Amino acid sequence: MAPERPPRIAPSLLSADFADLAGAIRDTETAGADAFHLDVMDGHFVPNISFGPALVKAVRRRTRLPLDIHLMIEHPSRYLRAFAEAGGDTLAFHVEAQGDPRELAAEVRRLGRSPGLAFRPETPLEAVEPYLSHVDEVVVMTVNPGFSGQEFRADVLPKMRATREALRLRNPGATLSVDGGVTPETAPLAAEAGADFFVCGQAIFGNGRSPQENLRALRRAIEYGKAP
Ligand code: DX5
Ligand code: ZN
Repeated sequence: MAPERPPRIAPSLLSADFADLAGAIRDTETAGADAFHLDVMDGHFVPNISFGPALVKAVRRRTRLPLDIHLMIEHPSRYLRAFAEAGGDTLAFHVEAQGDPRELAAEVRRLGRSPGLAFRPETPLEAVEPYLSHVDEVVVMTVNPGFSGQEFRADVLPKMRATREALRLRNPGATLSVDGGVTPETAPLAAEAGADFFVCGQAIFGNGRSPQENLRALRRAIEYGKAP
C-alpha cells in the first residue's frame, strides 16, 4: 500500500537542544529535512509543558521550511490565532480536545493556515472519520502524547492502514503523519501502512549520531518500506 506522495521527514524540535535551536534547525535543514514539527503541550491535555507561540515565532525567523504545529492542548480554539500569527503552517489539534473539529478546522482556514487532526493511540478511527474531509493532515499518534523517546506502538498499525484507506476515499490529497517512536526500524512499518509524513525526535537528535547520518538512515529505511 504505497503512499500517494513522496515521503517527508519532520524533525521534532522537542528533542533538540533548546539552548541551540538555531543549530538544530540549520543542521537538519542542511541534511534535507522537509519540515519542522513543534510539540505544544499545556500541562492539562498532556502531563507535560513544552512551549508556546513565542518559540514558534523564533523558529519561524530561522527557517523557510513548513512548520507543523502539534497542539496537545485542551482548548485549541483559544490559541489558533496566536500560532497562526507566530508562523505555523499546519495547525493540528486533537480530536480528544475541546471544541468541534469542523469549527476548529474552519477557523484555521480563515486564518490562512492548514488544519490538521491528531488522535491518540487508544482513540478509534471512527472518532476522526467524520472530519477527514475537513483537514489537510491527519496525525496518527504511535505513542501516548506528552513525551519524546517512547517506544513505537506497533498495535496502532492496523488503524493507520485503515486511516489511509478512509483518506483514499474521502480526502486523497491529505497528509498522513506518524508521530511517536519513529526510527529506521519502525518507519518502514508506518510507510507500509500508508504514512507519508514522518515525525522524528529522538531518532534525529537523541542517539549521539549526527542529524545528517540519522536523516540519511531514516530516508533509506522509509524508501525501503515503500517498496511493494
Ligand atoms: C509526543 C510528541 C512527538 C515527539 C516525538 O507527544 O507528539 O512529536 O516529539 O518524539 P520521538 O520521535 O522521540 O518519539
Ligand atoms: Zn508531536
